[in-house]
Formats: sequence, structure tokens, C-alpha cells
Amino acid sequence: MSDTNSTEKKIILSGIQPTGTFTLGNYIGAIRNWGKLQDEYRCIYCIADLHAITVKQEPAKLRQHTVEAYALLMACGIDPKKSVAFIQSHNSCHAEMNWILSCSTQFGELSRMTQFKAKSEKHPDDINAGLFTYPVLMAGDILLYQADLVPIGEDQRQHLELARNVAQRFNQKYGELFKIPEAYIPEVGARVKSLQDPTKKMSKSDENANACIFILDDKDTIVRKFKKAVTDSESCVRFGEGKDGINNLMAIYSSVTGKSYDDIEREFDGRGYGDFKLAVGEAVADHLEPVRTEFARLMNDKAYIRECYTAGAEAAERIARRTMTKAYRKVGFVDA
Ligand code: AMP
Ligand code: TRP
Repeated sequence: MSDTNSTEKKIILSGIQPTGTFTLGNYIGAIRNWGKLQDEYRCIYCIADLHAITVKQEPAKLRQHTVEAYALLMACGIDPKKSVAFIQSHNSCHAEMNWILSCSTQFGELSRMTQFKAKSEKHPDDINAGLFTYPVLMAGDILLYQADLVPIGEDQRQHLELARNVAQRFNQKYGELFKIPEAYIPEVGARVKSLQDPTKKMSKSDENANACIFILDDKDTIVRKFKKAVTDSESCVRFGEGKDGINNLMAIYSSVTGKSYDDIEREFDGRGYGDFKLAVGEAVADHLEPVRTEFARLMNDKAYIRECYTAGAEAAERIARRTMTKAYRKVGFVDA
């Protein structure tokens, strides 16, 4: 990436946790947009392995999932020559910034995070301090790179808001340092819902295997899961209140085909839910086919993947270290 670009282009930063294969929710809500942004912006993407250990992980699996997640990003169109793509733990600035920002974050504001409340209810036997301070680590990810925009799904909006507040507080306390980032959330598909309970978000950790589409699922599996999707007692494909299941399927169909809701209603006028579910399943499977193929190809060349994440970490550290050094000076640490 050339230095002339860095002065002209706005900076994008985002991250994803390596906790298993990505879901259709991750893909539509976040990653798909990451690739599209690469030409217009200076993009920095990280595999958030530091975040992942806030819940219990098997070390060998985490290691495997981290490399797979990196390869999946590449398979989804993130080009490590255009973007800085790296593994979070390879750049120690993230852990360092986490500490500095922790001291400008209030216990009360962290206590209000809905994801913390949900995760601590789910894992009552392991409500660790990392789970509580997780949004501070995420704020550091963003602020280290002076990001302008942060492409995320709806569920991360509250964390981004916290990052903005922490940045503003630090700037007031110590003098201007951090750029205040904005969320970049897609209009359609910002919250892809579970296929089995369309009032909940689609999540990797859902107990019902039919609730969630993984982007490496094969075509038969994808079509089968869509056929079983929960809808409502009507039979008319239209967007409306109380039709969470159909609304979700329409959002998914719209985001993989580019068709508007009006187009979709017209296409399925007079046809039943069965036809519609099949069409959505096939469209999703066809859309994801190139990702599956490219992922398989990349996983045969682990040395190349390693080369990419090593170079990515070096580039990330170079950018982040500048902010880190300034932050240390601002708070009053003696130069090393
Ligand atoms: P995570 O898997 O929690 O690391 O999430 C990675 C990215 O995917 C974040 O930007 C999330 O907001 C986004 N995301 C996760 N689940 C969904 C969903 N069901 N719908 C839309 N976006 C999602
Ligand atoms: N916490 C985010 C999630 O679970 C992942 C993430 C980590 C992230 N660091 C980030 C997202 C920085 C945006 C910016 O989805």
C-alpha cells in the first residue's frame, strides 16, 4: 500500500473473532462489505483472537480456527495486497492500548453493555474480567489506526458508541489524539436472524443446527436449512409487521441477488412459501459457491497464508505503533 494513498483515503477498520466458520450473518452483515470497500478506502482488517479467549476456547482449535478465519477472509475477497489483514495477537499494540484505554473507561458504562449481560448469562461459571472489558480492547483496535469508519453488523453498534465515548474522554483529558470513528452498517442485512427463531440474531453458537447457515455449508445443506426455515401462517411473500421469518428471508434474498423488496414481492406473487424458501436457499448457495472453492484452494497453501498474515502484522504494527507512542507521551510516560 503506497503512502500517497494513506493521505488521501479514509481509513476503515474492522475485526472478526476466529470462533469457528463464519455465518451468513457475519458475511452479509460485515465481511461482504469489507471486500467492496478496498478500492475506495485504506482498509485494515483483523482476526480478533484476543477477543476470542474471553470465552472458553480449546487452544488447538483456536489456532486452527484463526488460520481458517484468515483464509476465509481472503476467500471472501479481502486481498492482502490491497488491505492490511492481520492477526490481532501479532501486534502487541492492541494489548497495550487496551490498558491505557481501560483507565479512561468507567465501570458503569461497561456494565450497560448488552452483549456482556447476554454472555454472562450464557456462561455463568466464567464471568471473567476480559469478558467485561472486551469493548475496551475493541475500542483500542479501532483507535490505534485512527479509523474513520467501522463496518459492523447492528449487534456491535453499542460497542462502537463506547469506543467513541472513550476516545472523546481521552482527548479531553490529555489533548487531541484519537479520531472519532463512525459506524458503517448495511441498510439491508445488518441483523440476519436465526432461521428457527427469527426474533433472534443468527449466531454460530445456536444449539439448533438448522438455525444458522455457515458459509462453508454445501449446497444441499443450505437448501435443506432454508426449506425448514420458520415463517408464519400466511402464504403471501410480502414484507410486513409480524412476519419476522419472511422479512428475514427477503432481506437475505435481497442482499445476495441485489433485488429490491418490490421486485421480490412481484417475483413471488401468487406463489407459496415453499417456492420462495427454495429460491432463497439456491440463491445463497450459488452466491457462496466461489467462496467455498477459493477457501479450499487457499487451505492447500498454508505457507502462502502465513506469508500474508506475517506481512499484514508488520504493516499493522507500523501504523499502530505511531499512535501508541503518542498515547504514552500524552499520559506522561517517560520515553524509552
Ligand atoms: P463476530 O462473529 O461476533 O466476531 O462478528 C463479526 C461481525 O459480523 C460483526 O461486525 C458483527 O456485527 C457481524 N455479525 C455477526 N452476526 C451477525 C448477524 N446475525 N447479522 C448481521 N451481522 C452479524
Ligand atoms: N467484537 C467484534 C465482534 O464480536 C469483533 C471485533 C473485534 C471488531 N475488534 C473489532 C469489530 C474492531 C470492529 C472493529 O463482532
